[in-house]
Amino acid sequence: MVLAGERTFGAGYFVAADWRTAVALAVALAFTCSLVAGFALYARKAYALQQQLWQSQKLETLGLFAASVAHDFNNVLTGILISSEMALEELPSGHTVREHVQEVKHATDRAAQLTKRLLAFARLDIVEQPGPVSVNAVVQGLEVMLQRIVSRNVDLLVRLGETGIISYYPGHVEQILTNLVVNASDAMPDGGTITIETGTVSRESVSPPKGIGSARFYAMVSVSDTGVGIDSTTLSRIFDPLFTTKAPGKGTGLGLSTVKSLADECGGFVTVTSTPHRGSVFRVFLPVAADMDHPYPQHKDLD
Ligand SMILES: Nc1ncnc2c1ncn2[C@@H]1O[C@H](COP(=O)(O)OP(=O)(O)O)[C@@H](O)[C@H]1O
Ligand SMILES: [Mg+2]
Repeated sequence: MVLAGERTFGAGYFVAADWRTAVALAVALAFTCSLVAGFALYARKAYALQQQLWQSQKLETLGLFAASVAHDFNNVLTGILISSEMALEELPSGHTVREHVQEVKHATDRAAQLTKRLLAFARLDIVEQPGPVSVNAVVQGLEVMLQRIVSRNVDLLVRLGETGIISYYPGHVEQILTNLVVNASDAMPDGGTITIETGTVSRESVSPPKGIGSARFYAMVSVSDTGVGIDSTTLSRIFDPLFTTKAPGKGTGLGLSTVKSLADECGGFVTVTSTPHRGSVFRVFLPVAADMDHPYPQHKDLD
């Protein structure tokens, strides 16, 4: 009996001991798991922060480099500008070459404006004031240059609608347009069609993303292509700075992030729709200046 009692006691003791050990083990296991999970989370966050730091350091260096290049570039452009003006003075009116030299001068002027803005952005020059800008006038002024930029096997069509006046830097609108057209052309290695369209849309018809200003009307400029299109994974990253799917030397990954920040800067926004193998449509909406904020007879409702 004693033996049996001892056995009973012994078994109960071991049962109790097992129960306590199991709880202790479970607690230890849960603690270890949460420690490991916490550490993994911390490591992931630290890695992401490190990546962000590298990225911002890279951008800062890039900014300084761009500013110093812009500075030297400005001097080169001044030389081209003076030479083209001298050539124009010497060429008799009606000379066939005049048109080409005029285009050289025009393009140089534009490049000088861009350089000036880059320097202003890097606070190395006087900041230019924004002015009333007609989006259509910008598109028309840039059309010849854009025709030259796009690949030979690409057609560029321009369909101007009625646009309101916006209050912005004309050069910023040129930069937006140029970046989008270059991308569209790159997306069509086998040729195709780029269509630039402008118009005015009401706020209700586009429903801007949350936090976007309060303009009632937006001047819209869209660039559509019949190119390779963008798959959904790529689409989620295209506006990230330095994101590119192009070969080194071909892409910098700064085009669309610039387009987005220039649109953001004046209270506008960018949308994109794309179908792989069919093409893409980038639309940029820029707020019509408040004092011109009246309904437009031909404002478009987007589908
Ligand atoms: N029209 C387009 N069609 C297809 N892909 C595009 C188009 N525009 C942009 N992309 C994609 O978005 C990426 C980022 O574009 P961007 O910021 O202009 O940088 P980059 O042109 O230097 O690569 C491109 O590498 C490309 O993958
Ligand atoms: Mg680009």
